[in-house]
Amino acid sequence: MEKVDFNDNLNKLTQQLPQGVFLTVKDGEKINTMTIGWALSGRIWNENCLLVAVRYSRHTYEMMENTDEFVVSVPKEGVMKKELSFCGTKSGRDFDKFNECNLTPFYVDESNVPLIKECDLHFVCKKVYQQSMEPSLIGADFIHKKYCDKDYHVMYYGQVISTYKND
Ligand SMILES: Cc1cc2nc3c(=O)[nH]c(=O)nc-3n(C[C@H](O)[C@H](O)[C@H](O)COP(=O)(O)O)c2cc1C
Repeated sequence: MEKVDFNDNLNKLTQQLPQGVFLTVKDGEKINTMTIGWALSGRIWNENCLLVAVRYSRHTYEMMENTDEFVVSVPKEGVMKKELSFCGTKSGRDFDKFNECNLTPFYVDESNVPLIKECDLHFVCKKVYQQSMEPSLIGADFIHKKYCDKDYHVMYYGQVISTYKND
């Protein structure tokens, strides 16, 4: 695992998002990962940042509320389809997804949250801000298409502490 430049690796993240990437959190001793398809990368507060969007219904949401760290791990293109599907449909309330999918937690010095060793690229993030969606501000079209069940997203802004690539 080697440290790499944040900006040099954003294309890989963006290209993989439609198929999904992994968002990993740790609350106490419990680790959980879920598939995400939404993320924004860029620069804010003069820092490299990643924004992830987590709906209230997710177990990950409950865990995110209890921690100030998260990791986004990106598989190599076209692989880990089964794992992305499992982690995108099953909840950490019911399954130990690391165990079920044979994912290997890989710890780095600067975070309590593990990277997923089987993935190619990793963003280690410190939660610096969060924002709940204000339903009255969502456009009418999107309210009907995306939020008919009122399961809104919470936006978590992570300062990217380090970016890693598998050797
Ligand atoms: C391709 C894909 C992308 C997804 N993107 C998101 C996302 O960006 N935000 C979200 O809240 N859920 C997203 N989901 C759904 C969660 O991954 C799913 O509900 C998961 O089971 C939640 O796990 P948890 O309860 O352990 O947190 C996505 C699912 C798939 C298959």
